[in-house]
Amino acid sequence: SFNNRVRLVEVGPRDGLQNEKATIPLATKIQLIERLARTGLSRIEAGSFVSPKWVPQMSNSSDILEHILQSGIPSLNPLTLSFLAPNITGLNNASAILAKYPDEYAAGEGSEPLSASSGGASKPGIEIAVFAAATEAFSQKNLNCSVAESLERFAPVIQAAKDGGLRVRAYISVVLGCPFEGPNVDPHRVAEIATNLLEMGADEIALGDTTGMGTAPRTKELLTCLSSAGVLNEDVAMHFHDTYGQALINTAVSLEHGIRTFDSSVGGLGGCPYSPGATGNVATEDMVYFLESLGMDTGVDLDAMADIGAWITKEVGRTHDSTVGKAVLGA
Ligand code: HMG
Ligand code: MG
Repeated sequence: SFNNRVRLVEVGPRDGLQNEKATIPLATKIQLIERLARTGLSRIEAGSFVSPKWVPQMSNSSDILEHILQSGIPSLNPLTLSFLAPNITGLNNASAILAKYPDEYAAGEGSEPLSASSGGASKPGIEIAVFAAATEAFSQKNLNCSVAESLERFAPVIQAAKDGGLRVRAYISVVLGCPFEGPNVDPHRVAEIATNLLEMGADEIALGDTTGMGTAPRTKELLTCLSSAGVLNEDVAMHFHDTYGQALINTAVSLEHGIRTFDSSVGGLGGCPYSPGATGNVATEDMVYFLESLGMDTGVDLDAMADIGAWITKEVGRTHDSTVGKAVLGA
């Protein structure tokens, strides 16, 4: 039967904010995550355990994780919170916080909220995310090493995270276009890297169209190639940046292929520091409206999401980039 359930992964607090120059107060970030958790989302990317010299905006991710474990996070659904951790240093920094609150998070996905109707606090599941690249040039810029070296580094990170009861997401960036090598990224290389990461134990592969260069035909070609290589649709999430305005059409192509997990960013916030000119992820408001118009079920409250988009873009001094968000609010 037709499966109309779609999982949205909200990446605004990480991908959306990582590129902001001015330091965003911790309280604002926590308020953002808490508000998002009350919209019906079940997955939120909340921060990043990377070098503070490289991405200073994410340097208080330990405080975010600690606050959430200390105070609990009211949510409508079981909630999984995700943090980037590209190496053992990053994983160790996350694990040091988790070790202080062993009873405040759940293994795997989060537990049911204590009182779903009132949006009670639940124990969140914790996920870490590693990030590879589909091209050598992007790998060097983003990770300071080759693709092969990055995979070697991820293996023990993934293993240790899984041993610790954490979920693991593995991104592959620039799958549909590289700022340094152009639009024609080899889909077979992507399939090979994805297979490698799944064999290492990753629970999910997130395919990043970092530059937004993806087109409908090449999205279809990529997903066909992955399926032929034996990668299951249920193990794949699509992560579209909307630089060229193609994210929703590429989402439609992915849906038709059978993908049911999509990343988006409230208010369309974002951009990657190592991808010059790239804009934000597709806006969550646009994604919810579009998916629901196709008869899909996101479980997300669009009005609440639109309010958050207007609030957070104002808070960080960005233009509000969600077409749907603005329409819903009559702005
Ligand atoms: P490196 O410089 O090669 O690493 O960085 P290193 O091991 O030589 O360490 C250098 C210094 O960084 C040392 O400190 C380490 O302790 C420190 P020093 O001795 O000089 O004082 N360090 C760390 N500190 C905190 N946390 C850590 C960490 N690791 C090392 N985890 C590394 C390698 C990957 C860490 C570095 O290049 C880095 O952090 N890069 C940032 C990459 C990043 O965050 N990019 C943006 C996110 S990815 C993205 O946006 C794409 C995505 O959205 C999908 C898509 O759109 O395609 C996910
Ligand atoms: Mg991204």
